Amino acid sequence: MKTEHVYPVPADIAASTRITEEVYREMYDRSVKDPEGFWAELAQEFVSWNAPWQRVGRWNFDTPAIEWFSGARLNVSYNCLDRHLADRGAQTAILWEGDQPGDQRRLTYGELHDRVCRFANVLKSHGVGKGDRVCIYLPMIPEAAVAMLACARIGAIHSIVFGGFSSEALKDRILDADCRLVVCADEGRRGGKFVPLKHNVDAALSQCPLVETVLVVRHTARPVDWTEGRDRWFHEAVESASPDCPPEDMEAEDPLFILYTSGSTGKPKGVVHTTGGYLLFAAVTHKYVFDYRDGEVYWCTADIGWITGHSYVVYGPLCNGATTLMFEGVPTYPTPARLWQIIDKYQVSIFYTAPTVIRALMGLGTDWVKQADRHSLRILGSVGEPINPEAWEWYYQEVGEKRCPVLDTWWQTETGGIMITPLPGATPLKPGSATRPFFGVVPVILDAQGNELTGPAEGVLAIAASWPGQARTVFRNHDRFRETYFALYPGKYFTGDGARRDADGYYWITGRVDDVINVSGHRLGTAEIESALTLHDSVAEAAVVGYPHNIKGQGIYAFVTLVADATPSEDLKRELIERVREEIGAIATPDIIQWTPALPKTRSGKIMRRILRKIAANDLDQLGDTSTLADPAVVEDIIRGKPA
Ligand code: WT7
Repeated sequence: MKTEHVYPVPADIAASTRITEEVYREMYDRSVKDPEGFWAELAQEFVSWNAPWQRVGRWNFDTPAIEWFSGARLNVSYNCLDRHLADRGAQTAILWEGDQPGDQRRLTYGELHDRVCRFANVLKSHGVGKGDRVCIYLPMIPEAAVAMLACARIGAIHSIVFGGFSSEALKDRILDADCRLVVCADEGRRGGKFVPLKHNVDAALSQCPLVETVLVVRHTARPVDWTEGRDRWFHEAVESASPDCPPEDMEAEDPLFILYTSGSTGKPKGVVHTTGGYLLFAAVTHKYVFDYRDGEVYWCTADIGWITGHSYVVYGPLCNGATTLMFEGVPTYPTPARLWQIIDKYQVSIFYTAPTVIRALMGLGTDWVKQADRHSLRILGSVGEPINPEAWEWYYQEVGEKRCPVLDTWWQTETGGIMITPLPGATPLKPGSATRPFFGVVPVILDAQGNELTGPAEGVLAIAASWPGQARTVFRNHDRFRETYFALYPGKYFTGDGARRDADGYYWITGRVDDVINVSGHRLGTAEIESALTLHDSVAEAAVVGYPHNIKGQGIYAFVTLVADATPSEDLKRELIERVREEIGAIATPDIIQWTPALPKTRSGKIMRRILRKIAANDLDQLGDTSTLADPAVVEDIIRGKPA
């Protein structure tokens, strides 16, 4: 095996850390031997409760039934706002940098509290109460955090839909969650372009009869269509609302939010996170993983439409009283120096982004990085997909100038927070490895039969015990929750990822083992894209696979078989791409469409994606056994037809 480079903890970090390697080991041991004692202590330290729990953690992965802190009472917005007011009322809670340089805002904890209380009253005045679902379809602006926290304040359940999703995808999510109210903006701005959010809401709502109210943030202030009696300006509603709104007393296991994510089959599922355990896990991981220190500016570039934005732009940092930066734009606008300029402008200490961003900027050259001095940076993080060692090295050497540990954090929508990660002062780093489990996390590597492998091993990654941030169910589909995560390997949570554990106990995530693909850190189900393609009258059948892509991590490769009377053409390709964008959004746009006379199938009619993945990746001499195919000649046809 090739020797791996190991980077020790940088000297400055080592000198100031409280969590050394030895302390990590002690705390980790305690966290898995006595999880109840461990989490109870942290729960007292990180969260303010209105009433105590009866039981710290109780879980059964067969049913499955997962509970943390049941019986306890708390309110998430109280924890993120009210309790900070005495000490931090005048401290900046949210720094906002718009798409256009010079567009900026800041909100103190006091101001954020005021907005949240007012908006919570607006929601109430529209009949939204505890347990009701509210859809949020906003760009990266402070109102997104206001809307989330206002829902939490009154016990309403938010369902955020990423602004890059189409009106069709928005409609599906509004209907699945039975949302009664939508919060959107007139438009978003990204890289100098306008994103027609209100327009998409109008299109979606033509098929969502339950939605009575749309609250619209005036952001770009360009004209939008208006439905009298349904649509209302956010700012007008907020100004006229009372700033007095007592937080609803919630049970620890009451749902906090639903977030839709793609699986290997069917439509995206509404992952449900609850109140007490989720907040605790987001706050504890934010504090320990990023070593957050009072007064620092912390920046996570994720959109609030993804779990990373929920846990590490809003809930974790605000629960800890941090200053969190929100950026509406894109890394390359107006120049590829934008991120580094923002780091200098706000003196950012902790910067958390995705490998696809690092690779894209690395490809544009180091000169852009050097335009900023970045000396405020202390910690660098990565999330969303495996970070290749080359990108890791560039991030570490060029961006962080070897001063800042690079934290490759592995986790998922379903885990609520970071699961496998280095800790800045405790973990020697290996480029490409997410390293070791966070406190209370028990990763196991399984073989295909579900046997637990010990020592250095490669296989499927599962988690053997519950942790407070774990998702509790799929909204109105507990069966799907059980089948997806707990049926294949009884008694364990199945992650859908493969992983290798090396001789030092470090984990190396090898990627999804199911039909989920990861395009620029965005999770997509191949089945969703296939069903969008087959909606077109000319398409008989489609099979979609991921293939290695230099910048995006994975690209989308679609093999398409047309109906007998259709003729392949570039125009038809464009129509298919348009169809996918309408059904899902631009993030699902196929990079390659290949016309194929037929797809490789087993005799029972199952498409052999394993073979298509090899063809897409150009691993032509590793196609494996094709003898079980109904018609092995199909494979030769497809290889011959591969676009150059
Ligand atoms: C999938 C989860 C929660 C973060 C945002 C994505 C992949 C995530 C890493 C990493 C290798 C990673 C996995 C995982 N992934 N982080 N550090 N190294 N792979 O959340 O959309 O739920 O996707 O992203 O494949 O299963 P998500």
